[in-house]
Amino acid sequence: MTETVPAQRPPFRLPRRDDGTPPTGPVSARPDGTAPGSVDEETFRQALAVHAAGVVVITAQSEGVPVGLTATSFSSVSLDPPLVSFYVAQESTTWPWLRSADHFAVNILTGDQAELAARFARKGVDRFAEPTRWRPGPLGAPLLQDVSAHLVCLPYDTFTVGDHVLVVGLVAEAGVYHPGHPLLYHQGRFGRFTTHP
Ligand SMILES: Cc1cc2nc3c(=O)[nH]c(=O)nc-3n(C[C@H](O)[C@H](O)[C@H](O)COP(=O)(O)O)c2cc1C
Repeated sequence: MTETVPAQRPPFRLPRRDDGTPPTGPVSARPDGTAPGSVDEETFRQALAVHAAGVVVITAQSEGVPVGLTATSFSSVSLDPPLVSFYVAQESTTWPWLRSADHFAVNILTGDQAELAARFARKGVDRFAEPTRWRPGPLGAPLLQDVSAHLVCLPYDTFTVGDHVLVVGLVAEAGVYHPGHPLLYHQGRFGRFTTHP
């Protein structure tokens, strides 16, 4: 009896970028003739929205002024050295202030801090005014009160990626306060995490 070996489809790969330049467009057409790399913008947004994410507020002290913004793009990067990252929109008005700061803090929010997250995403308000409660951290960057955890980070690297900047921080200090109670963001709404029974 002859065994039939299923035809292997070659894996889809983006071109190598040894020269550091980004892929410039479609690599090859799909069987239906449409090109990879031309995703419908609305479908792309909807797909991203189903990815539930933890919520942080990035804070810094820049030229004596506290600055900060809400982010869901926070991620761990490396244990040794201890690195974390977030993406900030190039058009962010807070980014130039964050960029010039000598360190920044990542405030990981609890399930009770949806209002705080909304406040740090709002334009035209003093994000650090009452009812925001904060204190200067060990190196000066504002630390928000009652958060799940803090990470105090030194700038490690930045990369421009599309319309965002990837910011990598070297963690210098960390504090954990309320670990079991995170704030999540899913499909445009804040929510809480529940474990399976
Ligand atoms: C839940 C949530 C998550 C967000 N995540 C990010 C993020 O990861 N990166 C980013 O640049 N902006 C993010 N934003 C938008 C910023 O919080 C802020 O609204 C935006 O940067 C405009 O303010 P700015 O001009 O002070 O930067 C997020 C907003 C919300 C509500």
